Amino acid sequence: MSKPEKPLSQAIAERRATPSFDGVPLPADDLKKILEAGLAAPSGYNIQPWRFVVVQSPEQKKRLRAASYNQAKVEEASAVIVACGDSDGWRKDLDLMLQQGREGGMPESYAEQAKSSVPDYLSSFSADKMSGWLNKQVMLAYSFMLLTAETLGYDTAPMEGFEQDKVHEVLRLPMSYRVVALLAIGHLKGSDKFDGGRFNIAHTVFGEEFGKPVKL
Ligand SMILES: Cc1cc2nc3c(=O)[nH]c(=O)nc-3n(C[C@H](O)[C@H](O)[C@H](O)COP(=O)(O)O)c2cc1C
Repeated sequence: MSKPEKPLSQAIAERRATPSFDGVPLPADDLKKILEAGLAAPSGYNIQPWRFVVVQSPEQKKRLRAASYNQAKVEEASAVIVACGDSDGWRKDLDLMLQQGREGGMPESYAEQAKSSVPDYLSSFSADKMSGWLNKQVMLAYSFMLLTAETLGYDTAPMEGFEQDKVHEVLRLPMSYRVVALLAIGHLKGSDKFDGGRFNIAHTVFGEEFGKPVKL
């Protein structure tokens, strides 16, 4: 029998960026749930330009740690999901996306329009713009994975402290891939990190226009 999941609100309230992990392996069925939750995220045009590399072997985690400014939690985690974006993903997957869409009831008029509007839109992107666009899409799927791992009772650590070229080399990534972030998953070892708190809602949220308080 699978263990009860934490309510999402509890997972959000209790989550911390985990400082250290005990390294106990992650059961494959839980890993599958975490990955599938990410893949269910929305993306622009449903083009799903994210790609994930799951690192679990001790040797590969060691190499990844070396590519991540020697952060110990990369090696200690049960699994590290390396979240990437593929800048050529839309070229390769447009037909597949349309085929799956049609199977799900996508109107032919929508499919016809997307066939030209997706290349029109994305082929004009500069490298910087593509990188920003990919970050948006990838981090949404990544967040779905992080939260799902937390609801399943795991601890997580988001990480941007890595060297792009080195991670590329360790994972043998294609040139069109861009590493966006690492997600370490496992169980906390030792004490949790302090709670850094959050800015008051009035500091970061406005209502109707900049500077006005949102009515709650
Ligand atoms: C995208 C992203 C990248 C991060 N990269 C690192 C990292 O490389 N190393 C690290 O120790 N913490 C990293 N953090 C953790 C943050 O420092 C942490 O989330 C923040 O201090 C708030 O703490 P909390 O998550 O416990 O609330 C990262 C967080 C995010 C969202």
